[in-house]
Amino acid sequence: MPSLDDHKYRDYTETTSQQVREFYRANHRFQTVEFGEAQRDKYLNHTYAKMGIWEALELLNTVIDESDPDTEFSQIQHCLQTSEAIRAKGHPRWFILVGLIHDLGKILCLRDEPQWAVTGDTFPVGCPYSDKIVFSEFFAANPDLNNSNYQSEFGIYHAGIGLDHVMMSWGHDEYCYQVVKNYLPAPALAIIRYHSFYPWHQDNAYSELMNDHDRKMLPSVQAFQPFDLYTKHDLPPNVEQLRPFYEELIAEFFPAQIDW
Ligand SMILES: [Fe+2]
Ligand SMILES: [Fe+2]
Repeated sequence: MPSLDDHKYRDYTETTSQQVREFYRANHRFQTVEFGEAQRDKYLNHTYAKMGIWEALELLNTVIDESDPDTEFSQIQHCLQTSEAIRAKGHPRWFILVGLIHDLGKILCLRDEPQWAVTGDTFPVGCPYSDKIVFSEFFAANPDLNNSNYQSEFGIYHAGIGLDHVMMSWGHDEYCYQVVKNYLPAPALAIIRYHSFYPWHQDNAYSELMNDHDRKMLPSVQAFQPFDLYTKHDLPPNVEQLRPFYEELIAEFFPAQIDW
């Protein structure tokens, strides 16, 4: 098992695989305001399935994330590795649950969505693209770059507007947030909604758009990151052994089925 010291995570340089580069080339070209609106209309105004959380996890397990240079584990193993690492540090039960469910939105891959519309880092649309976004050079092919409304200082937003009023690029974070938003406390929802927003929580980009609520939530989002990243080379967890603990935890916050 490699230690943290001899493995570099999120390496998006010349050594990045062609698959990850092509993923971001498509993602940055096609994630526009118009696309975001269309996806929200498609998924947030319709219910496609009624499912319990564990059922969704089992469904998720058939997805492989092409944007992730760091993991060869299945999705359910990644979810359980993340949640088990959080649990081992003695964090509250809602935080453990977030570890388990934070990637559930990736079931969108099973609805014939291309990977670039589901996974990878996220960023605001409708305002200038920060050079802190991974492979930002690929935005040259994004048509929103030619829309002067979007390319003024704050685009269609204003300073201090609050991230909840900013349209993020569409993907598993936003979709999962929308599905679970009635069931979890605010920091849990911020983690789910913004965990792939690396330019913000890691590199401080777009901080002018934050309001007081975002400033309060940021430490939770940052506290979550190491668990999401640095557990990817641990031994695979025993799914069946852990299942009873997690079924009980899920039942504490969620009804037997929710709308997807
Ligand atoms: Fe994720
Ligand atoms: Fe994850």
